Amino acid sequence: MKKTLLGLLLTLASATQAQQKLTAFEPGKVWPDDKGTHLNAHGAGVLYDKGRYYLFGEHKIAGPRGNSAQVGVHCYSSTDLYNWKDEGIALTVAPEGSGSEIEKGSVIERPKVVFNKKTGKYVMWFHLELKGKGYSAARTAVAVSDKATGPYAYMRSYRPGAGQWPLGFKEEWKQPAPNEANLKWWTPEWRKAVTEGLFVRRDLQPGQMARDMTVFVDDDGKAYNIHSSEENLTLHVAELTDDYQGFTGRWNTIAPAGHNEAPALCKRNGKYYLITSGCTGWAPNAARSFVSSSIWGPWQQLGNPATGPDADSTYHSQSTYILPVAGKKNAFIFMADRWTPKNPIEGGYIWLPLSFEGDQPRLQWADRWNLGVFDQPKKAAVAQ
Ligand code: GAL
Repeated sequence: MKKTLLGLLLTLASATQAQQKLTAFEPGKVWPDDKGTHLNAHGAGVLYDKGRYYLFGEHKIAGPRGNSAQVGVHCYSSTDLYNWKDEGIALTVAPEGSGSEIEKGSVIERPKVVFNKKTGKYVMWFHLELKGKGYSAARTAVAVSDKATGPYAYMRSYRPGAGQWPLGFKEEWKQPAPNEANLKWWTPEWRKAVTEGLFVRRDLQPGQMARDMTVFVDDDGKAYNIHSSEENLTLHVAELTDDYQGFTGRWNTIAPAGHNEAPALCKRNGKYYLITSGCTGWAPNAARSFVSSSIWGPWQQLGNPATGPDADSTYHSQSTYILPVAGKKNAFIFMADRWTPKNPIEGGYIWLPLSFEGDQPRLQWADRWNLGVFDQPKKAAVAQ
């Protein structure tokens, strides 16, 4: 088709706009990539590798079908965290009807990529639900690539912890208590039963459920997959093998019966901090936070890190990742999603600086902010 002069001018105008350098974060606003298109990386995580950040997230399409995987995992790269170059689809769904676990129409959520120094491979973990089975499969899956941007080759999925009891699981908890399956949910007796392994026992053989997840690499190079398990009642932390592609069998529970989703983890001054959400599907709720001096616990529950207006809905968003800013000590960005399930492609991104008051992680809304907040004295950064 012949381009009209007006069409040509509009194309030129949008190209110029697309190339305008961004110099700040504007949480919740449309976030254009290098082509001027709103970033399509939901439930995202970030990898920092050789001077570049790589953002990986769920590629959503328009309309309710877009909540399932129609395309795959989208990758973008950046050197300054504001301006993102579209690197295309890093993990592509398999064709419909292929029988692959990641076929079109499956659910691929919350992808997180880590680099393994021993193998030189990039390892992507994500929450996988099998096509046509709702959220019942509750699996965590792994894909591997030689390059950060992919293509990632799908390896396999897991129910972690099969045949393995969590650390510190008492001998007397290995047998079911009489009548425990009939306990009424949310009663003190039921909470006690969950803490003492009601669901851990049920899923010992198939392996434990694994839904919302993140991956965390510690200073010693050991990596962990942290996921919502036991019908989303209890978080599990499971150690990955040296190549980060499987599980060692060492795992533990976090906050039994605490009903936590959307785990995001960071380490600061030797302590581990965890931010989560409650379980209300796509609807936002108040975030929670935890601290521990070991990844294996015990985890101490703290308060809602969000402050100010809309703190009770985490500013209408749900956590996905805590990004340590490269080259700045103790500088962390809280990353969250503002889901729009009726038209998932429109989903927004809430990135805010994460500060600390003692052990308590803190968030404060900002319409516009930049990485300079991390260079200001602590008090000023909090007050911005
Ligand atoms: C949310 C979860 C999302 C997605 C959604 C489906 O609670 O955090 O990742 O699974 O439920 O309803």
